Amino acid sequence: MKAGRPKGATGREAPRGGWTEEDGGGEGDAPSMPRPPGGAGAAVEELLDEVEANPEARPLLSVDGMRGRVAIVTGASSGIGRAVALALARCGIHIAFNYLDEGEESLHRASVTERKLSHFQVQVFHRAVDCRDSHQVRAFVDEVEEQLGGVHILVNNAGIGRDRALWRMTDEEWDDVLETNLTGAFYFLRAVAPRFRSQEYGKIVNISSVHALRSEFGLANYAASKGGLLALTRSAAVELGPSNVNVNAVAPGYIRTTRLTDRVPSEILDRARERSALGRLGDPQDVAGAVLFLCSEAARHITGVVLPVDGGYVL
Ligand SMILES: NC(=O)c1ccc[n+]([C@@H]2O[C@H](COP(=O)([O-])OP(=O)(O)OC[C@H]3O[C@@H](n4cnc5c(N)ncnc54)[C@H](OP(=O)(O)O)[C@@H]3O)[C@@H](O)[C@H]2O)c1
Repeated sequence: MKAGRPKGATGREAPRGGWTEEDGGGEGDAPSMPRPPGGAGAAVEELLDEVEANPEARPLLSVDGMRGRVAIVTGASSGIGRAVALALARCGIHIAFNYLDEGEESLHRASVTERKLSHFQVQVFHRAVDCRDSHQVRAFVDEVEEQLGGVHILVNNAGIGRDRALWRMTDEEWDDVLETNLTGAFYFLRAVAPRFRSQEYGKIVNISSVHALRSEFGLANYAASKGGLLALTRSAAVELGPSNVNVNAVAPGYIRTTRLTDRVPSEILDRARERSALGRLGDPQDVAGAVLFLCSEAARHITGVVLPVDGGYVL
């Protein structure tokens, strides 16, 4: 139904001062001008019919339709990953997550996430899976599908930092960071891609960093990995877009997680706070909100972008 659309007009508001050639609004595009029968005018008319076929506003954050979906959130045993998993679970999304098995502490963190998720009455599945190992990743994704009945959302969050001046950086420090933050994300993306393509649905969000956009001392490996993740995001968006799969990235600024506050000296955190337009550090929930938006139908026409969640740090 073309509700409220005046006959012979497009229903769009003309810019102040009228339409000009420079506006790209050539012949017949002005709202009040009569359209020639057939030709370009008719084609435009047809397009507008399509656009206005359903003029009702969609709910801003339509999370209801997400209930019952299955999300994989990598590295959700703590910090941002945990907050993302909880935000998705709150919308009725079943959660699978992995983490790196580094002993009792890792297992404890994972069990805390599991316990918190259980409050939302969703199914939860988790395993210690090293994202640097493509065989483990494939087996995990297969198991998730088997246990939870599908996969619809992937949040590539697992990540590490090994900061050092680049002239002192070891091969191991370079490789560890690149393999975890970039190669690991690629392994997960590659494992879900055939499923997302065949079901013609999927949402992928890669957790990059403001340091992909603006580096600082000691972050050569980290910045390269997170910058690579943005390039991977764009490539995947192009390749998977025709299958109705959205691929986006978020670029958090300094976010208060235990690992960050343990790793980064307080002077740097103070400087980051002062530099950001909003004058504060972020919380994991701030990132979770952006991820939730990108996974929702409110963002159905957004793909290949990077959304900074940094309180205005990179401005
Ligand atoms: N915090 C920030 O300020 C900030 C800013 C920008 C971007 N980010 C990005 O956000 C993501 C989460 O950061 P966070 O601060 O929440 O860190 P975090 O608390 O240290 O969480 C990292 C998660 O990744 C997992 N992980 C690490 N290496 C892994 C591997 N090889 N295989 C599987 N899982 C692995 C960890 O498992 P274990 O617990 O078992 O080790 C943990 O679950 C990272 O990608 C980070 O780069 C963070």
